[in-house]
Amino acid sequence: MKAIPYGRQSIDQQDIDAVVSTLQADFLTQGPKVSEFEEKFAEYVGSKYAVAVNNATSGLHISVLALNLKKEDKVITTPITFAASANCIRYAGAEVWFADIDPNTYLLSLESVRELVESKPKGFFKGIIPVDFAGLPVSLEGFRELANKHDLWVIEDACHAPGGYFTDSKGVKQRCGNGNYADIGVFSFHPVKHIACGEGGMVTTNSETLYKKLSLLRSHGITKENMRENHGGWFYEMQELGFNYRLTDIQSALGISQLAKNDAGVIRRNEISKAYKKAFQNKAKFQDLPKGSYNAHHLFVIEVDDRKELYDYLREHNIFAQIHYIPVHKLPYYKEIGYGSLDLSNSENYYSKCISLPMYPALKEEEQKIVINKVLNFIDG
Ligand SMILES: Cc1ncc(COP(=O)(O)O)c(C=O)c1O
Repeated sequence: MKAIPYGRQSIDQQDIDAVVSTLQADFLTQGPKVSEFEEKFAEYVGSKYAVAVNNATSGLHISVLALNLKKEDKVITTPITFAASANCIRYAGAEVWFADIDPNTYLLSLESVRELVESKPKGFFKGIIPVDFAGLPVSLEGFRELANKHDLWVIEDACHAPGGYFTDSKGVKQRCGNGNYADIGVFSFHPVKHIACGEGGMVTTNSETLYKKLSLLRSHGITKENMRENHGGWFYEMQELGFNYRLTDIQSALGISQLAKNDAGVIRRNEISKAYKKAFQNKAKFQDLPKGSYNAHHLFVIEVDDRKELYDYLREHNIFAQIHYIPVHKLPYYKEIGYGSLDLSNSENYYSKCISLPMYPALKEEEQKIVINKVLNFIDG
C-alpha cells in the first residue's frame, strides 16, 4: 500500500504553469508577482495590508520587532504550537511566558492568560501571541479586550488557519488574519500548510504604521520611497537594521495560484473532518468546535490513552500520523533556560494523548477509510 502521510501539498498543472511563466519573465524576485500576491492575500483574509516574507518564522520575527519588542520584555504564548511562535520572542532577547491551553479547544486559554496578566503590574507584559492551532481560529475578541485594558499588543499566529473564521459578539464572521482584533496576523506557506510555496509566509495588518515598519524590516531596513526626486534615481536609505526576508516572484506565482484554490481545499478538509468525527464519535476525544467558528483544519487531532502504540501501529500499516506538538517549554532549549518545571497540566495531558491523523485535500476517500478502519481496529482491540 502507498504510504499515507499526515499532510501534503496539492500541486496541479496550473501551479506548474504559473511558476514556469514567472521563470520566463523579467523578474525572479522583487518583481510584480510579489505585490500581486500581497494584494490578493490581503483581499482574501480581509486585511488592509499584507507583506510577503520568506517563511512565517521571519514573519513572526519582524512582527515582534515592528511592535517594538525589546530585550527582557515579556510576551505570553501557548506551549501547544510549533517552536517558532515562541522563538520569535527570544530572537528579540525577550522572555517567553507560557499560559495553559483550554483542554477542549486546545487553544491558548483566555482565562489562563487573564490570570497571568492580572497577577502582575500593568506594563509587565508587552504582548500575547495566540495560535489558531490545527486551523481552529482563536476567538480574538476577548484577547483584544484584555489587551486593551493592559496595553498589550496581539499577534495572531494564523499559520494553520487561512480561510478559517470565528464569529464575534456582534455576529460578524472574522476571518483569520483580518486584523480587526489582532494587530498582526502571520501565515506560513510551508508545503504541509494550506498554501504551498516551498517556503514562504505572509504578515497581515490594518495599521499603515506597522505595514511600513514590516516592509522596511523585511528588506534590510532599506527604502527608496520619496527620495529619488531630491537625490537621483539610484538613491536609497538604510533606516533600520533589517533583514533579507523576501519572498521571490517564483514562490509568489505559486502562492497566487494556490490561494485561488484555498476555499475549495478548506471545504475538502472539513469533509474529511466530518467523516473522522462520525467514525470516532464516542471512541476518541477530538477538538471542540465553538459555535460560529469555522475550522480551516490544517490538522485533525484525536486523543487516545495509548497514543505511542497507535502511532507505531499506524506506521506498521504505512500510515504516517504525527504528533502536534511536544509542548514548547519541554524542548531542551527551553528546559535549559529554566522552563522545564513549569506546571501546565492541560498542555501536558493533551500532549500525552494527541495524535494527528492524515488531513489534506488530496486524501482520497478510500485512503481515509483505511485510516479510519485501522484506528478503529486499534481502539476496539
Ligand atoms: C503555528 C506555527 N507557527 C509558525 C510556524 C513557522 O512557519 P515556517 O515554517 O513558515 O517558518 C509554523 C510552522 O510549522 C507553525 O506551525
